[in-house]
Amino acid sequence: MLNNWIYDEYKHCGVDYSKEEHADEYDREHQSFRDYEKEFNSMIEFLGLSNTQELSVIDLGCGTGATSIFATEQFKKVYGVDVSDVMIHQAKKKLSNKFSGNIEFINAGFLTYNHKDEPVDLLITKAAFHHLPDFWKQIALLKMNKMIKKDGILYIFDVVFDFQANDYKDRIDKWVFNFEKNAGQKFREEVETHIRDEHSTFKWILDGMIERAGFRIENCKSNDKFITEYHCIKIKDVDID
Ligand SMILES: C[S@@+](CC[C@H](N)C(=O)[O-])C[C@H]1O[C@@H](n2cnc3c(N)ncnc32)[C@H](O)[C@@H]1O
Repeated sequence: MLNNWIYDEYKHCGVDYSKEEHADEYDREHQSFRDYEKEFNSMIEFLGLSNTQELSVIDLGCGTGATSIFATEQFKKVYGVDVSDVMIHQAKKKLSNKFSGNIEFINAGFLTYNHKDEPVDLLITKAAFHHLPDFWKQIALLKMNKMIKKDGILYIFDVVFDFQANDYKDRIDKWVFNFEKNAGQKFREEVETHIRDEHSTFKWILDGMIERAGFRIENCKSNDKFITEYHCIKIKDVDID
């Protein structure tokens, strides 16, 4: 029976990453205020990983490969997964032949990706999880649990709200203003779209969902109460189709 109530994760919410022109511009825009290599190295440091060459990793919502491409240089095996085929196409164009043997790109998402190989040591999701509404975030976390080995790591990097709700206007205005100052007007519009049309949630909600999906939060870091990094450990298996 076809479940007509299942969330369609290919129908983009907010910024539309299925458009070719957006994928083309993505790296140019993001690299005006992001250093992908520095981000990758600081993630490895945050997670305390020293043996990456022995590890397998899934990058869910890999986009144009900001993380996956650096991972190919260090990890044993990389799976880059994204609902947008044009973002994946862009990632493939950037891949150097030297490191293309240990990566697979898969056009699927948090809810639809069916990981057929052995569970991985590390699952990363960077700036993508907020595309799901909260109910579906919980389902996705349960599915992620099945993709990760026992004692394996879940790394989430996303916009998460860690402030009292009654403060929301002032907090969000200041955050949007700072983005414009650091990254320009175009990016201001992107973060306005993020707040208005995408599904970032409160930290206390996301913490609860992570723990209910069989993970322990080992460490959580946020410098501005918005952009948040989670280091989680899978402590038990969960049951989900
Ligand atoms: C802001 S980009 C982040 C890309 C990359 N992780 C980075 O750090 O640059 C968000 C990505 O999430 C993808 N995405 C949106 N909904 C998704 C879903 N349900 N499952 C997997 N990826 C999704 C989009 O296609 C887009 O490539």
